[in-house]
Amino acid sequence: MKTSVIAVDGYASTGKSTLSKRLADVLGFTYIDTGFMYRAVSYFALKNGFLKEEYIQEDALKEALHKTSFSWSKDIPSKLMLFNGRPYGDELRTLEVSSWVSKIAGLGFVRDHLVHQQRILSQLGGVVMDGRDIGTVVFPEADFKFFLVADAEVRATRRFDELKAKGEKVVYQDILKNVIDRDHQDSTRLISPLKKAEDALEIDTTNVSVETVLEQMFSTINSKS
Ligand code: DC
Repeated sequence: MKTSVIAVDGYASTGKSTLSKRLADVLGFTYIDTGFMYRAVSYFALKNGFLKEEYIQEDALKEALHKTSFSWSKDIPSKLMLFNGRPYGDELRTLEVSSWVSKIAGLGFVRDHLVHQQRILSQLGGVVMDGRDIGTVVFPEADFKFFLVADAEVRATRRFDELKAKGEKVVYQDILKNVIDRDHQDSTRLISPLKKAEDALEIDTTNVSVETVLEQMFSTINSKS
């Protein structure tokens, strides 16, 4: 079967995962959250003591990374991605993990490893994959490409509300700073920087409902199918 790929790239907290999940549900595709993979590796590095203040023990992380694995749970329909055989949740979305993840995602050996895993994980028929480099690097031949943008304050408010609802003690200014710092690091890194693929459709999700953006995405997909 030909693999159908829909790439959803964009800045932090622009609604990529919500929209990608909804697209995948309607199309009967598998949703792949590549941010989960970079976050899982960052969490793993933190827990194993490879991250100290500003310093990353790259050799130790590189060696350990090759003993890790990503796989799918067998729970149908809500198939979950597993890291080292177990599911992860809110522990990957803390401000601590968020403050390391762009540094980890800037390492060439981490990106090579995860891009390879992403291509393997996507051999499932149809996938909606969200991230930063899906339409440019992971699947430059993707069938459809979307690139999401939104005002930083609106994105920080979304993240702040999300983390507060989960009971995390957070300060809005810290979240805003993290969103702006990650945008900067993700779009200026040397390897696979966040940028819009030339053939991607850019959508601004500031103050636009999920339903309205989905309509726009489906009308693009239907017009070319
Ligand atoms: O989508 P997210 O906010 O959970 O992603 C977390 C970080 O992972 C993001 O700041 C940059 C990195 N990332 C990346 O570099 N490439 C991807 N394909 C996905 C995420």
